[in-house]
Amino acid sequence: MSKAGRLVVLVSGSGTNLQALLDASADPKFGASVVAVGADRDGIEGLTRATKAGVPTFVEKLGDHPSRQAWDAAIAAKIADYEPDLVVSAGFMKILGQPTLERFAVLNTHPALLPSFPGAHGVRDALAHGVKVTGCTVMLADAGIDTGPIVAQEAVAVLPDDDEATLHERIKTVERSLLVEIVGRMAREGWSVSGRTVRIGNQPEGESK
Ligand code: GRF
Repeated sequence: MSKAGRLVVLVSGSGTNLQALLDASADPKFGASVVAVGADRDGIEGLTRATKAGVPTFVEKLGDHPSRQAWDAAIAAKIADYEPDLVVSAGFMKILGQPTLERFAVLNTHPALLPSFPGAHGVRDALAHGVKVTGCTVMLADAGIDTGPIVAQEAVAVLPDDDEATLHERIKTVERSLLVEIVGRMAREGWSVSGRTVRIGNQPEGESK
């Protein structure tokens, strides 16, 4: 069983999912705490939220490196400095490369019900398709775009007058609660993955956490 107590959270924008994790981890009973926040750009609210919470931050911009491979290695090294049990990609708008994926378990959150509508525009694409129900997915990251093993999902109804912004806001409310619930359970109960099946807690008899 893997643990999830030390979290490095990666962000690219407003960081409301990060804030939900910071708020939850203020209670020691949550079982996990954010030990660092990383970003791929400066000047974002997510970094301000971390600083306000007294959590160290780091920024690795793709443009500061000669190649994607160099950026992949640099961000993996920065993450490693904080010895996380789990990396949470919470609105981080870059695909993480092998240097990170080989060393760390990475949890990702996506504003659609995968495998429908992967990629950067999950809310827009679901609306354009005319679905009546969409939602959010928490999954483990792999080398693909939103293709990793699914940990949890929750549905959100699409309302007749929804536009991308209103629907995304309703999804994000559900997404934040789901992310907090799943990270907390992974930390407190342990977790394992077999093929595409992720199991939290409930380990077979005789196996210790
Ligand atoms: C979330 O909906 C996430 O799934 C998507 O971007 C949003 C990030 O929101 N990729 P925030 O930065 O946590 O507020």
